[in-house]
Amino acid sequence: MPDKIAYAAGERIPRHIAIIMDGNGRWARKRGLPRTAGHAAGSEVFRKIAYACRDLGVEHLTVYAFSTENWKRPSDEVATIMKLLNKYLHESIETMARDHIRLRVMGDLNGLSPELRALVHETDEISATYEGFQANVCINYGGRDEILRAARRYAADYAADPSVALDEARFSAYLDSAGIPDPDLLIRPGGEQRISNFLLWQCAYAEFYFTDVLWPDFTVDELKKAIAVFQQRDRRYGKVKTT
Ligand code: FPP
Repeated sequence: MPDKIAYAAGERIPRHIAIIMDGNGRWARKRGLPRTAGHAAGSEVFRKIAYACRDLGVEHLTVYAFSTENWKRPSDEVATIMKLLNKYLHESIETMARDHIRLRVMGDLNGLSPELRALVHETDEISATYEGFQANVCINYGGRDEILRAARRYAADYAADPSVALDEARFSAYLDSAGIPDPDLLIRPGGEQRISNFLLWQCAYAEFYFTDVLWPDFTVDELKKAIAVFQQRDRRYGKVKTT
C-alpha cells in the first residue's frame, strides 16, 4: 500500500527517474477543455517535477514528451505539443544555467523542425558548460527506433573498422542515452500499465511504478510516494538475495 510507506530523504534516492507523462487528454476532457489544455497543464507539471527531482538529489529525469507514433494525432494537437516544447527550450536557454539544470533532447532530431533543432543545439552547448542535474526530454522518440538508429551507426563504424567487438557497453554508447545511467525507477501515471516503446534497452532493470493519477494532477508528494515505494524494493538484478 504505497500510501502507508514513508519517503526517506537522502536514502536510496534513484539516480535516474523516467516518466511516461500520460493522462493529459483525459484530464482536459474531465474539465470540458480541449486536449491541448491538458498538454499545457502537463508541461507545467513537468517543470515542477524537474525542480523537485533536482532538489531531492536525483541526477537524471527523462520524460516521454512526443513519441514517433504521436505524429498520427490530430494536427492541431501535434502543433500544440511542438509549440510547448519550443517554448520550454526557449525559456531553458534563459534559465537553465541559473537553475543548474542541464538539458538533453533524445529522439530522432532529423524529424524535428529546423527551429527546434537549432534550440536543441543551443541547449546542448549550454549544458556542456557545467555539471549536475540533467533533464532528458524525449521528442520524436521511440525505443525501437532508437535501437535501430544505433545499430545503423554501429554498422557504419564496423564497416570502417571490423576489429571493434560489440558488447553491451559499446552498444549503449550508440544510443541517444549515451553516457546516462539506466533509469532506476520508471513512473507511469494515467492508469495504463505498459512501457509504450519507451527506453526499451535502458529499462532492463528499472523498477516500475504505476498510478491512476493523471499527469497534470501529479504532484511532488506523488513523486515522493513513488520514490518511497522504490526505496522498499529489493533489486536483485537476476541474483539471489544476500541479506
Ligand atoms: C500523453 O497523454 C502525453 C503526451 C503524448 C504529450 C506529453 C507532452 C507534454 C506534457 C507537453 C510538452 C512537454 C514538455 C517537456 C514541455 P495523452 O494525451 O495520451 O493523454 P490521454 O491518455 O488521457 O489521452
